[in-house]
Amino acid sequence: MSTVRDSFHSRIGFVLAAAGSAIGLGNIWGFPTQAANNGGGAFLFVYLIVTVLLALPALYAEVYIGNQAQKNPVSALKEACKDTAPNLGKYGGLIGLSGAIMMLSFYTIVAGWMLSHALSPLFELLGQHELSQWLATSSTQRNLMFTPLFILLGAGIIHQGVNAGIEKWSARLMPILLIMLICLIVYILQQPGAEKGLATYLIPDFTQVTNPKLIISAMGQAFFSLSIGVGGMMVYGSYMKKDRDIGKLAVSITALDTFIAFMAGLLIIPALYVAQEAGQQVFQGEKLIGEGQLIFNILPELFNSMGTIGMVVAISFFSLLSIAALTSTISSTEVPVAYLVEDKNFTRSKATWLVSGIVLTASMILIAFFDSLFGVVIRVLTTILQPLSCLFYFIVVGWLWKRGNKLRDVSLQQGRKWLPIWGNYLRFVCPLLLTVVFVNVAILN
Ligand code: PFF
Repeated sequence: MSTVRDSFHSRIGFVLAAAGSAIGLGNIWGFPTQAANNGGGAFLFVYLIVTVLLALPALYAEVYIGNQAQKNPVSALKEACKDTAPNLGKYGGLIGLSGAIMMLSFYTIVAGWMLSHALSPLFELLGQHELSQWLATSSTQRNLMFTPLFILLGAGIIHQGVNAGIEKWSARLMPILLIMLICLIVYILQQPGAEKGLATYLIPDFTQVTNPKLIISAMGQAFFSLSIGVGGMMVYGSYMKKDRDIGKLAVSITALDTFIAFMAGLLIIPALYVAQEAGQQVFQGEKLIGEGQLIFNILPELFNSMGTIGMVVAISFFSLLSIAALTSTISSTEVPVAYLVEDKNFTRSKATWLVSGIVLTASMILIAFFDSLFGVVIRVLTTILQPLSCLFYFIVVGWLWKRGNKLRDVSLQQGRKWLPIWGNYLRFVCPLLLTVVFVNVAILN
C-alpha cells in the first residue's frame, strides 16, 4: 500500500505527545494508590530503581523498533523478526495490541470517574446539590454513563489524525497540570496530619524493599506509567523521522513522567493522612480501602475544605486529569487503529469507530463484573503482559533482529562510543534482570 503516513511535524511534537501518553491516570491515580498500598517510601525507592534499570531501556527499545521500521507495531515487529521468526514478531505485536485494548477497557472507566468528579462541583455551584452528590458517588449507573462519554471524546480526537489531533492537544495542556499539582501540594502540606504522610512517603522502610510483591508491583507500575509493552510508544516512534537521538528522547520522557508521579505522591499520600487525621477511615490493615476509588473521595473532601475557591480548584483539577487521561487513551487507541489502517486497508475513521466499539464492549463487561474483574485485569496487564512484552522487545533488539539494527551491528556504530555498551546492556543485562524478577516472583509466590 502506498499511502503517505501521517507524522509528527517536529522533535518536540514527539516529546510532547509521548509525554502526554506517559503522563496520565497512571501517575496521578495508579502511582499514589500503589505506593500507599505497598509501604510508601519503600515503593518509591524500588520504583525509581526499576525505572532506571528496566523501564527506561524498554522505552528506548520500543521507540527504536517503531522508529527504524516506520510501521505500526504488528508490522514493525514482524519486520524486525523477518530473518529469524516472522510469525513470532507478528504474534508478539498482536499480543501488545490486545494489551492496548485491555488497558483501554479499565482506563476509560477510571477516566469516566474524572469526568463526573469534574462536573460534580460545577453542579454544586449551580445549586443542584442532589445531582452533584450523585456525580461524586461511585455507582454502576454513573459508570454506564461516563465511560461511553469518555470513549466518544477520545474517538473524536483520534479521528482527526496524528498531527491535527494528538500533537496539538498534548502540547497545550500538560504544563497547566503541573502548575496545579504544585499549588495543591503547597496547600496540603500545611494541613494537620500531612507530616505523617510525608514521612511515610519519603522515608523508605528498607526491610520491605526486597519484598517480591512490592518489586513486581513497582515494575508493573513503572511500565504502565511509561506506556510501554502495548505498542503505544512504538507507534509514536514510527511517526517520528528516522534516526533521531532516541536515547535523549527516552531520558526526557522518563524524567518528566517520573517527576509527575513523584509530585502526585507528594500530594495524595499526605492527603490520605490528612483525611485520616480528620477521622475518615482510609486503611484497612495495611491496604487502602476500596479498589483504588478512595483517592477520588479523599480529594473532593480536600477541595471542600478550601471553601468556594475549592470548587473551582476541583473543577479544574479533575478536568485536567480527564485531559491527561485523554492524551494517554489516544496513544493506546492509536495502536490498533494504525494496524487496521496500514495492514487491513481501513479508513482512519472506520478503524477509530471499530476500535472504540470494541473498547466500549470490553469496558461494559468490566463494569458488569466490576468486583471480580476490575483489579484482576489491571494486575494481569501491568504485572504479566507488559513486562513480558518488554522482555520480547529486548530479545528482538538484541537477538532476533538481524538487518538494519544499529544496536546489534557494530560496523554501523562508529563514532558513537556508548552505543555498543548500551546495545549489550539491552541484549544481555535487561532480559536477564527481567527473567530474574519473574523467576523470583514465581518461586516466592
Ligand atoms: N502511561 C499512561 C498513564 O500513566 O496513565 C497509561 C498508558 C497509556 C499505558 C498508553 C499504556 C499506553 F499505551
